[in-house]
Amino acid sequence: MKVLGIETSCDETSAAVYDGKKILSNVIFSQVDTHKVYGGVVPEIAAREHLNRLPAVVDEALSKAGAGLKEIGGIAVTYGPGLAGPLIVGVSYAKALAYASGKKFTGVNHLEGHLLSPFLENKDFKFPFAGIVVSGGHTNIYIAKDFGSYDLMASTRDDAAGEAFDKAAKMLGLPYPGGPEVSKAALKGNDKKIVFPQAQMKDNSMDFSFSGLKTSVLYYIQRNQGKIKSGQVTIEDIAAAFQKTIIRTIVKKTSRVLKDSGIKTLAITGGVAANISLKEELKKFAMERKIGFYAPSNLLCTDNGAMIAYVGYERIKRGLLSGMNLEAQPDLKI
Ligand code: KG4
Ligand code: ZN
Repeated sequence: MKVLGIETSCDETSAAVYDGKKILSNVIFSQVDTHKVYGGVVPEIAAREHLNRLPAVVDEALSKAGAGLKEIGGIAVTYGPGLAGPLIVGVSYAKALAYASGKKFTGVNHLEGHLLSPFLENKDFKFPFAGIVVSGGHTNIYIAKDFGSYDLMASTRDDAAGEAFDKAAKMLGLPYPGGPEVSKAALKGNDKKIVFPQAQMKDNSMDFSFSGLKTSVLYYIQRNQGKIKSGQVTIEDIAAAFQKTIIRTIVKKTSRVLKDSGIKTLAITGGVAANISLKEELKKFAMERKIGFYAPSNLLCTDNGAMIAYVGYERIKRGLLSGMNLEAQPDLKI
């Protein structure tokens, strides 16, 4: 069975075909250039862009997969979490396509797409595993026990990791999207010049908080204009110290989840997982403890239709279908 997956939750218009073994196509149209001038995603514009692009993106995904709609067994679509307008475009399009062609139809949770994305590239990847989902909107650590059975162990109380990267980039005068820009700058910086504080939860909770770090970066920049202007401290040094703090926080929380649960497999997914330093630190941490480590290739870290087609395939196989009354759910959780 071939499943068509459609993803429009934020600023990537994507469609992919997955056949239970392989990704046959994964077409991603990034709207970055459209939103760049505004310094961030404008939801209304994103929705219109999805509407304009999605039909051609779906056609291309089908033709790259060498399949007409006739050969597609089911259609899967992200119905949340994400931006309301963009989600509505994807869900309406997918429903209409499924209805008109009489295909099986299922709604997919975007976070489940990220969480399970390592299955797309790794034959030896298995449940149970500890899965970190770090994206623009989420910093969650799950214990994934089986398909559809996930325990949320830690999440963000305020800014998500990707959001913190994007905001830090703005403060440092780097363009949108901030994550890749900050990580590029950090590679050239000295991460030992500044020490930003790591948030400690008063109640000893596992949750993340990155808004304090964001404020520390802001104050540092405001109070050290002289040093920055003279080149004593560079934007790259600040980026490196900021990134190091985020990485250390993620490693620390992950370490606790692994220790408490005894789980021996770790995966990091979502847009921020495209960060090379984060991946390397976690890999080192895992190897030292003989824990299996998995991270998707970059194209499968940021938003993509393949991860939605994968979860869609697994849902349809189990008879988990959605009706034509499926609605976009911007605040959907797992
Ligand atoms: O998963 P994703 O594509 O979209 C959401 O579901 O939110 O994640 C996007 C986030 C953005 O905040 C972006 O800045 C961040 O991932 N990101 C990165 C890197 N590449 C993308 N953050 C840090 N380092 C990167 N290399
Ligand atoms: Zn995402």
